Amino acid sequence: MNNRLETIINLTRYPIQDLNSTITKELVKKCKNELDQFSCSTIPNFILPKSLKIMNTELEQQIDEVYMSKESINPYLNSKEEKSFEKDHPKRIFSKRYNGYLNSDLFEKNSEMKFLYEQEELLKFVSACVGISPIYRWADPLACHAYNIMKPDGILPWHFDSCEFTLSIMLQKPDKGGIFEYCPNIREPGNENFDEVKKVLDGNRKRVQQLKLEPGDLQIFKGRFTLHRVTKIEGNRSRYLAIPAYVLDPWRVNTPEHSRAIYGKVLPIHHERNIKRSDGLAD
Ligand SMILES: [Fe+2]
Repeated sequence: MNNRLETIINLTRYPIQDLNSTITKELVKKCKNELDQFSCSTIPNFILPKSLKIMNTELEQQIDEVYMSKESINPYLNSKEEKSFEKDHPKRIFSKRYNGYLNSDLFEKNSEMKFLYEQEELLKFVSACVGISPIYRWADPLACHAYNIMKPDGILPWHFDSCEFTLSIMLQKPDKGGIFEYCPNIREPGNENFDEVKKVLDGNRKRVQQLKLEPGDLQIFKGRFTLHRVTKIEGNRSRYLAIPAYVLDPWRVNTPEHSRAIYGKVLPIHHERNIKRSDGLAD
């Protein structure tokens, strides 16, 4: 048994280290059903309060190293105008963004979040929940297990993630606002579904769902195929979220443009691995 893991995850309630136990089999079944239907599933009180406190402290201790960006982006996390598309095309619709990350390369060696991300037990559990094996930890050294910070007035507009599966662990909720909204399965490999994306950007709420996430809850989410956003942070309290992510391709990283705009820097690996994606989707 992994001693440190049991101080982080509530393994008594969720024995994820044992995928053959009846409890875990039931949990995996529930998560998989929800992910198939809604592209999103939540497990309440997954992280123990003491560990949550450690994550909050490690973030606050490095809060000055957080990269805050205010660059407007399109739903494909791009800030550059592509004039070859019609003026009202989703790729040419840019929205206000104010959001920050503590990049994964800045985490202390012994970090609670980093440790959790590196555990096979978690990887295998998520793999079972999404019903795909193998999945991999993300090779992007900045984005793989970042902390997300949204300060007062922070906002994250409609977008798709560049990784396939994102976990979200709420560390600190804002006073008001900062609500996660999503449109399940709006695009799939080979089909961008621009018409439907455009409707959502224009304010159509038909596909939009909201998710309530409490501190300690774990959300598993198919971010690459699900348009999502976080509404504006109201009040004085920042919103803190841990966002470890998993991918289908163990080699790929963010594009240089994406890395620069969102994480504030570009590393050699982003240039070296900048080739077209095999799923035909933009990012
Ligand atoms: Fe996202």
